Amino acid sequence: RRPVVAVVGSINMDFVVQSSKFPLPGETVLGGSIEYFPGGKGANQAVAAARLGAQVTMIGAVGSDVFGGKLLSILEAEGISTEGVRETQGASGIASIIVSSGENAIIVVPGANGELSPEDVEANSGLIEKADIVLVQLEIPLPTVEAALKIAKRMGKKTILNPAPAAAFPNEWLQLADIVTPNETELAALIEAEPGTDDAAAALQTAMRALQDRGANAVLITLGANGAAMLTSDGEYIQVPGRKVDVVDTTGAGDCFHGALAAAWASGQPLPEALAFAIGASALSVTKAGAQTGMPTRQELDAWTQN
Ligand code: RIB
Ligand code: NA
Repeated sequence: RRPVVAVVGSINMDFVVQSSKFPLPGETVLGGSIEYFPGGKGANQAVAAARLGAQVTMIGAVGSDVFGGKLLSILEAEGISTEGVRETQGASGIASIIVSSGENAIIVVPGANGELSPEDVEANSGLIEKADIVLVQLEIPLPTVEAALKIAKRMGKKTILNPAPAAAFPNEWLQLADIVTPNETELAALIEAEPGTDDAAAALQTAMRALQDRGANAVLITLGANGAAMLTSDGEYIQVPGRKVDVVDTTGAGDCFHGALAAAWASGQPLPEALAFAIGASALSVTKAGAQTGMPTRQELDAWTQN
């Protein structure tokens, strides 16, 4: 049987504008192009996990606008089950993304994602029951995230909490997550410290321990181009360097990492191996434009890893 990953999260349409620079307040800049890419942290992670071999179930919401049906059919074309995706009245989630020199700036308007309720998750608990791993992010209402974690734990499932975009949440969530995966900014928001000090590695480990003192199990910090670091629940520290690539678009790189991590872990790989697999997948994803469109397949990743 293929490993099953349930993603409870956001589904967006990304409006991606290429620009030579980011506009300052009051400034108008002529952009190079606009493209419409399917996105949303939840859907991106779902697509990454599916392309990398997992059977994926999405629990989320899309709107009744022109984008809703499109976003649904894109997920279905990836072989993702959308039984748990509700269609709401009104707008779908939208992300306005400016890409400049490989960096991005994003505004997310939640739309339908903002209506995904704890009741929606409860109504789809049968889908969670069939999953090996439940993956959540913070682009849906926080009570809904909490419900997903609680239902998953009630059913004895493995859980991954990707606290993105940065938000404060109760310590109890740390115990409900087998792995919590902030990036450096999100970590700083969680422990209320400044990111990136001189002795980066030492500061990182101190911060990770601080999260474990608050109840976290495994803590995994994504470090962008520098890879990732993990403090296991047994206190073992593992650091995996990033891979050098030609950056086209980093949008969704973190999502690729999470989808890959979930797919690999659900397939029975030990966490350190799943971590290395996820680093490779996300490195490959930034060499292509778009969030979901850049997610590598298992074949692409294997071929690239052997080079
Ligand atoms: O993580 C990248 C995603 O964040 C984009 O696809 C956009 O939709 C925003 O949600
Ligand atoms: Na990409």
